[in-house]
Amino acid sequence: MELDLSNFDVKLSDDINSWEEVNLLYNSALKQIQTKIEILNEEFQEVHRYNPIEHVKSRVKAPESIVKKLKRNGYESTIENMVRYVNDIAGIRIICSFTSDIYRIAEMISNQKDIQVLTVKDYIMNPKQSGYRSYHMIVSLPVYLSDRIVNVKVEIQIRTVAMDFWASLEHKIQYKFEGKAPQHINSELFECASMVANLDEKMLQLNDEILAVEAGE
Ligand code: GTP
Ligand code: MG
Repeated sequence: MELDLSNFDVKLSDDINSWEEVNLLYNSALKQIQTKIEILNEEFQEVHRYNPIEHVKSRVKAPESIVKKLKRNGYESTIENMVRYVNDIAGIRIICSFTSDIYRIAEMISNQKDIQVLTVKDYIMNPKQSGYRSYHMIVSLPVYLSDRIVNVKVEIQIRTVAMDFWASLEHKIQYKFEGKAPQHINSELFECASMVANLDEKMLQLNDEILAVEAGE
């Protein structure tokens, strides 16, 4: 990734001294979480003959976006502020088939001793006004460097394929209209969100029925 340091007024924090180090730490945290998720998925496949995870996407937030977010929240662009106030520098998105998988995966992640769950936002139980549904966790996990251990925050978003389809389109539309989409588009998106919720529920029911038949065979 191309790094532009010109926007940063770099001040030394106790743990992390430079953007290079920030990038290394957040990338390392992402790698660790990715591996954990792969292991869970493979083990699940072994035991239950079924993959709860469809795919996983991850990214480290671009420096410009970090600066923009700090500015939006009234903070100076310093390393210290980004580490303290920007919770989604490292982001991972887990896409699964069924809503029940989401809670299963969230629980498996929370149960790991080296992962500390800092916050949970359940936008499935409580969808956003836009209609957005997903399960969000901010976790912290230790990254082992040569001479010290640094706890690094990662934002985990867990959603179904259908929720992801909706969120991608909605994001594209909001981006195009710079967050001010015409009312009819917003209300149609909201309507689509409830169709997506309905679809997720129906697919889960069907799958449960199929599993019950298989169990009886
Ligand atoms: P951000 O400042 O955007 O990070 O939001 P937040 O700190 O209030 O956290 P929240 O958990 O609400 O949202 C974090 C992330 O979830 C966002 O960066 C998006 O990736 C996603 N998200 C939240 N709301 C929406 C939405 O209405 N539509 C879409 N497409 N994505 C959303
Ligand atoms: Mg974000």
